[in-house]
Amino acid sequence: MTLIWRYLLLSIIAVKCKAGGIVDLNGQWHVRDTKRHYSDISATVPGGIYTDLMDNNVIGNIFYGYNDVETNWIPENEWTYYKNFTVNEEMLSIDNVNLVFEGLDTYARISVNGKRVGVSQNMFSRYVFDVKDNIKLGVNKLEVRFLSPIKTSQAMADKQKYVVPPTCPPTEYRGACNANMLRKMQASYSWDWGPSFLSVGIWKDAFVEYFNESTIRYIGTEISADKDNWYLDVDVYFAPKGWLKAARVEGTLDLDIVGLISIKDISLEVGENPEGEYIYTTTVTVSKKEVNMWWPNGYGGQELYTLWAKYKSKYGDESTKSVRVGFRTIELIQESLGHGGGLNFYFKVNGLPIFMKGANEIPLDILPERGQDRDLIKTLMETVKESHMNMLRVWGGGVYESDYFYDLADEYGILIWQDFMFANAMYPVDTDYIFNVKQEVRHQVNRLRSHPSIALFAGNNENEIALRQNWYGTEPNYTVYYKDYVELYVKTIQAEFKRITRNRIFLFSSPSNGDVTVKEKYVAKNPGDYKYGDVHFYNYDSDPWDSTLYPVPRFTSEYGYQSLPSLNSLWQATSNPEALTIKSDFIDHRQHHPDGNDQLKSLIEFNLKLPDESHKNYLKAFIYYSQIVQAVGIKMQTEHYRRYRSILNKDRLGNTMGALYWQLNDVWLAPTWSGTDFAGNWKMLQYFVRDFFAPDIITGFINDKRVLEIYVVSDSLVDVSNVTASITIYNWNCLNPMHTKNLLVDMKSGKSNLIKSLSTDKYLSKQRCGTIEDAKNNCFFYLSLSHNGNLLVPKNYVFPAPLKNSSLVQPKVKIENVTQSNVNIFDITVSTDNIALFVWLETDVKGKFSENGFVLVDSRKNVRFVSEYQTSLHDLQKSLTITNLLDEQFFYSKSVSSAMTASISIIVFCVGFNFVYK
Ligand SMILES: *[C@@H]1O[C@H](CO)[C@@H](O)[C@H](O)[C@H]1NC(C)=O
Ligand SMILES: *[C@@H]1O[C@H](CO)[C@@H](O)[C@H](O)[C@H]1NC(C)=O
Ligand SMILES: *[C@@H]1O[C@H](CO)[C@@H](O)[C@H](O)[C@H]1NC(C)=O
Ligand SMILES: *[C@@H]1O[C@H](CO)[C@@H](O)[C@H](O)[C@H]1NC(C)=O
Ligand SMILES: *[C@@H]1O[C@H](CO)[C@@H](O)[C@H](O)[C@H]1NC(C)=O
Ligand SMILES: *[C@@H]1O[C@H](CO)[C@@H](O)[C@H](O)[C@H]1NC(C)=O
Repeated sequence: MTLIWRYLLLSIIAVKCKAGGIVDLNGQWHVRDTKRHYSDISATVPGGIYTDLMDNNVIGNIFYGYNDVETNWIPENEWTYYKNFTVNEEMLSIDNVNLVFEGLDTYARISVNGKRVGVSQNMFSRYVFDVKDNIKLGVNKLEVRFLSPIKTSQAMADKQKYVVPPTCPPTEYRGACNANMLRKMQASYSWDWGPSFLSVGIWKDAFVEYFNESTIRYIGTEISADKDNWYLDVDVYFAPKGWLKAARVEGTLDLDIVGLISIKDISLEVGENPEGEYIYTTTVTVSKKEVNMWWPNGYGGQELYTLWAKYKSKYGDESTKSVRVGFRTIELIQESLGHGGGLNFYFKVNGLPIFMKGANEIPLDILPERGQDRDLIKTLMETVKESHMNMLRVWGGGVYESDYFYDLADEYGILIWQDFMFANAMYPVDTDYIFNVKQEVRHQVNRLRSHPSIALFAGNNENEIALRQNWYGTEPNYTVYYKDYVELYVKTIQAEFKRITRNRIFLFSSPSNGDVTVKEKYVAKNPGDYKYGDVHFYNYDSDPWDSTLYPVPRFTSEYGYQSLPSLNSLWQATSNPEALTIKSDFIDHRQHHPDGNDQLKSLIEFNLKLPDESHKNYLKAFIYYSQIVQAVGIKMQTEHYRRYRSILNKDRLGNTMGALYWQLNDVWLAPTWSGTDFAGNWKMLQYFVRDFFAPDIITGFINDKRVLEIYVVSDSLVDVSNVTASITIYNWNCLNPMHTKNLLVDMKSGKSNLIKSLSTDKYLSKQRCGTIEDAKNNCFFYLSLSHNGNLLVPKNYVFPAPLKNSSLVQPKVKIENVTQSNVNIFDITVSTDNIALFVWLETDVKGKFSENGFVLVDSRKNVRFVSEYQTSLHDLQKSLTITNLLDEQFFYSKSVSSAMTASISIIVFCVGFNFVYK
């Protein structure tokens, strides 16, 4: 499937030469280790050693059990990939024959017919090797020998004049050392959410290209606008004749976008560009009337226009390449708020300030070749779009993702915060390393910059703050590491970036203080300052559901909590029932975050009371509760940031304009921060994301004076007047509301508005919830917003006391009925006899529920399930289960009151407005 796509892609968008062509090298290869314990193993390109060894049953599924550590002999070896290819007469007669690798992971020696044609040392660079003098008519032998990444990392570390820390990850990561020495996916050495798999292989397309004079390598575009026109700067990059040997590229170049054709005679000389590049640059003017704009998800369409470039050389070479252009402008605004108030930090797209809603993407798979899988990418990007996100951060410890990933981001309106691949480390700056990085920047920036989704590039993840806060013991030699920092991110990466692009957004690090980081000479005094730039915020020591404890920054580019994947998912990583207890070696093995499970337990216990640890369903409860705490914690924090979108507090903190939670996806089944697990199942968080990122929300929290503040936040483009906000009070023991207050309010476009403040305890007491001291334990608030009877926002709720203190009642929640209305659509009726919390539907059938993890306040509710494939009603019903916070599988009916320290366990009577508490 993947392969077919690659062939298609090659023939469509890659180079098409009249005098020349391509020999595809994808498909079947062979691999052996240097010691020849394994030889003639069939291999696939694009691919990698773990995939090949799995496919040949040399090793088992690496994602299963303890196979991550049991296969760690693989990167100790050297692996040689080899293949024969055929050379014809035409290739011999033509001037340029190159071996092209779109991705080699990582250190390799490449030879043709036994002669070395080049080496590779960066998995993020494209390698083009001149093989003209090494080929012969007929069968040619190609070999790519990969060095051991473990040994190479060590050897590079040994070569450094001084230690470039960190050397090894914490022991809990069960990972490999010296990640920073190789230009290789940093997470493949392990992370606190992922295993170590130091893969080697040809992880992207490979081919031989031959042409007489030149061919188009990249089209890079830059866009600007005035009142009437778009100005598209087009840079067409040519491969030089004779592989950097010749003097000029000559011929004609046709450019076409929306029917605007300009035929140009070109004559480019080497020497015009000191880097030896041949670039033809022109500006195409497109009238604004002729095209539609490109907008982020939720703000309009994502119209894309194809820009074709067709080159005809003087001697008959032809090559065609295209990119898709979206007409949009993007600015990062950092303007003074005055009075020592710092700087704003927000994005304007097409002149409109937009609150960035999204997540951090970690590598799509721990094996880079698997991260290219189109189905995987599509499913994930659909989740992103469906979850109302408009930005994803491609985090600096992974890879620059595939073309298809960015194509979908273009199509779905997902802006990309693109890190350069440097994360949580100091890095070397020797001449080779710097040269290596420069090639990487050049290739990736040119490959990616035309995508309208690309919003900005950032130098690294957390390295500025790590240096400033001495995370790796660099303090005694600060000036040494500071100088290196500037060398790498300022003098190399930013310099190369600026040379290639024009007026693009570049940040040095995340978190950083933006302009103030620059002013403070690239390592700010406090890179996490709430008054500048973006921040990362994690706190595992206090109540995750207490909104008053969250910071008020301009933009939060990381925040989150862990949870465990469901049992259904975990069974895909083990078959041993004994592995599925919270204290098992297996769970411990997969919990890489130091003290992670204890932290999770204490985070749960701020608000919930777990069943007894000896309970047979303890792990199940722990998993479900961890997902609740994560989902609600991230929901509360996100709503907090959204409430601050147009509010500046007395300390001039606020105007928050971005919330990117950590983390979107997973690379194995383990306790991690993800919303979607490695089996593709949505955790409770992912269902909540769809609601808390909805364009308009109603949200409330109880401030430190115990005042309930209720806000309406609108990201919509138009104001709506006279919408009805309903504040309903429920007693925990009754489905009939105690009281409903309706308010007519205006929903203002692009604003957060405080619509009501209520003195919580007094108000609840007045609604017959009990004494002023006790009322908060007996009742809760339920919020909605409607217009002409139509619900405008996801319903929301506020708990006035920790749930473990509240007088919850064990409900009887049931699946009443399931009906099938289509081959993959099912309607589920659930029922309850009392308020039910975090009602969770689950099934083995792959698919999504229209709602999940909801608070049930109606005796009946319909939920739709859409399966990913055709399924029978019987198959769905077989595995469909329903769980609630006080489920009988965790708490026997009688013990509920003590379990949740409830004061009521039996509903005596319940008649809504007439109910008198106690
Ligand atoms: C490559 O070709 C040579 C000579 O024809 C042959 O001996 C060898 O087996 C081939 N290798 C592969 C991997 O096909
Ligand atoms: C290649 O270019 C040379 C001039 O550099 C020309 O004489 C020759 O005909 C061209 N060959 C082909 C196959 O186009
Ligand atoms: C770091 O500092 C220590 C102690 O001040 C010194 O001995 C060492 O040479 C320094 N290393 C570098 C790389 O400057
Ligand atoms: C909103 O309601 C008020 C009072 O009911 C009314 O005077 C006003 O015209 C309404 N506005 C709109 C836009 O409907
Ligand atoms: C919850 O209950 C505990 C124990 O009764 C009490 O100490 C604590 O103050 C309560 N918390 C709140 C927020 O009411
Ligand atoms: C389930 O729903 C279907 C379709 O609405 C209905 O015909 C059937 O009677 C219902 N069954 C039960 C047990 O409620």
